[in-house]
Amino acid sequence: MSSMQPCGMSDDDRRPPLNEVLEVAQHGLALKPKRLPSWLFYDERGSALFERICEQPEYYLTRCEIALMKEHAAEIADTLGSEVRLVEYGSGSGIKTRLLLQQLHQPVAYVPVEISAVPLRRSVRHLAQEFPSVPMQPLCADFSRPLRLPIPVRAPRRTVLYFPGSTIGNFENRDAAVLLRKMRNEMGDAGGILIGVDLKKDAATIEAAYNDRAGVTAEFTLNMLARLNREIASDFDLAGFSHRAHYNPMAGRIETHLVSRRAQRVKIGRVDAVFREDEAIQVEYSCKYSPQDFAALAARAGLAVVRMWTDARQMFSVQYLVRASTLAG
Ligand code: AVJ
Repeated sequence: MSSMQPCGMSDDDRRPPLNEVLEVAQHGLALKPKRLPSWLFYDERGSALFERICEQPEYYLTRCEIALMKEHAAEIADTLGSEVRLVEYGSGSGIKTRLLLQQLHQPVAYVPVEISAVPLRRSVRHLAQEFPSVPMQPLCADFSRPLRLPIPVRAPRRTVLYFPGSTIGNFENRDAAVLLRKMRNEMGDAGGILIGVDLKKDAATIEAAYNDRAGVTAEFTLNMLARLNREIASDFDLAGFSHRAHYNPMAGRIETHLVSRRAQRVKIGRVDAVFREDEAIQVEYSCKYSPQDFAALAARAGLAVVRMWTDARQMFSVQYLVRASTLAG
């Protein structure tokens, strides 16, 4: 899981320290097979490209999740109960958060947890305007590591960790269980987790979502190399690599690679990475779950699914988890 997010950042950093990016790149490209962590996608350009991916007709995830929130936010709010402290892991464009905050009964605080200071400040500024009565307590931190949540202004009835976007899918199964277990600790006895989970479906639909016709996802993937060229002394020829995203039905996940179109040698600072023709760098997993799969994953983390909201075609789900012991007792 430590490969998921950069660490060692100070509060005001927009990006991880450059030497960390260099180290991560040199390390990942020395592995066999080669592998780079997916957080390297999200520099400013990568984040903008991700927003554009969400608008592509093939990328159903965001649209489905927003539709679910629109349709069920009131019922979700009832399930969470009154005087919730809402802690969000990551801060996206804020549409889903708005839909939820509009329905919550007397929320005690909103705590977005985000590693990049600039988007964190932006999201809080906008939400504070729209929800002047909800105390905003932003936390600049890496959510995959243990958090020290700010002291709430008034005591919440329960802390709910909100983890939308199917970001959980970017963690391999074992790491996902570790992260959920950490979340279970952070939310306390009375707490809950509201999480967006992309569901298994026919391979063609899933593969199309990661291979949009307009090529935005390919651009997003290749931006990882462009980012390295911008930030460290690397000299990737972007025309020498291509985007490949395949659904692995056995593992239940999209596996995204950057594939070298030819034999080549690339400078990564002071060391060279040597590529064979067709050699791949693994850059992202996006795991898909059946409702049963996800319930089993939750159970491994000591959690139980109490509610699941899904669309008629079972494309996507929003699930509410609590401590398994709470349910039994
Ligand atoms: C935001 C991480 C959930 O895996 O579907 C979109 C990122 N990658 N297209 C996903 C992504 C390629 C997305 N997550």
